[in-house]
Amino acid sequence: MAIERTLAIVKPDAVGRGLLGEILARIHKAGFQIIAIKSLRLTKAEAEGFYAVHRGKPFFAPLTAFMSSGKVVVMVLEAENAIARWRDTMGATDPAKAAPGTIRREFGTDIQNNCTHGSDAPDTAAFEIGYFFAASELL
Ligand code: RTP
Ligand code: MG
Repeated sequence: MAIERTLAIVKPDAVGRGLLGEILARIHKAGFQIIAIKSLRLTKAEAEGFYAVHRGKPFFAPLTAFMSSGKVVVMVLEAENAIARWRDTMGATDPAKAAPGTIRREFGTDIQNNCTHGSDAPDTAAFEIGYFFAASELL
């Protein structure tokens, strides 16, 4: 298996509820290296650009309103098989369907307010990392 990088976001619901420390602890325990990290508030247009793959879906407008509603923490995680491993650590999109012990199962409220984001493939990881970080921040 290859060393990979993935883009993780702690979403506004989790930041607002004071869950950042708990989620960072889980990231460390799961063996990821945090290559870069920043806190920011997305504009609606930035959220729309980030989730452009979902444009036209019924949840696109509420999703991008939610993602621009408060601070997020974006980070680049590195590990063997990082993309799949971070998605396993998060759990399924809908917290009610996520496996016990996952972040979304333990802390998510509903299918939208599900605490974290993770890239889903190498090409989306590359796009998403570049969306937030310059090459000079990833050394
Ligand atoms: P993410 O991209 O945030 O890591 O989540 P995901 O891959 O598990 O799910 P995806 O299908 O990419 O959906 C992106 C985010 O949109 C919200 N969502 N709402 N109301 C709904 O039916 C619905 N479906 C998705 C969630 O915040 C989801 O994480
Ligand atoms: Mg997704």
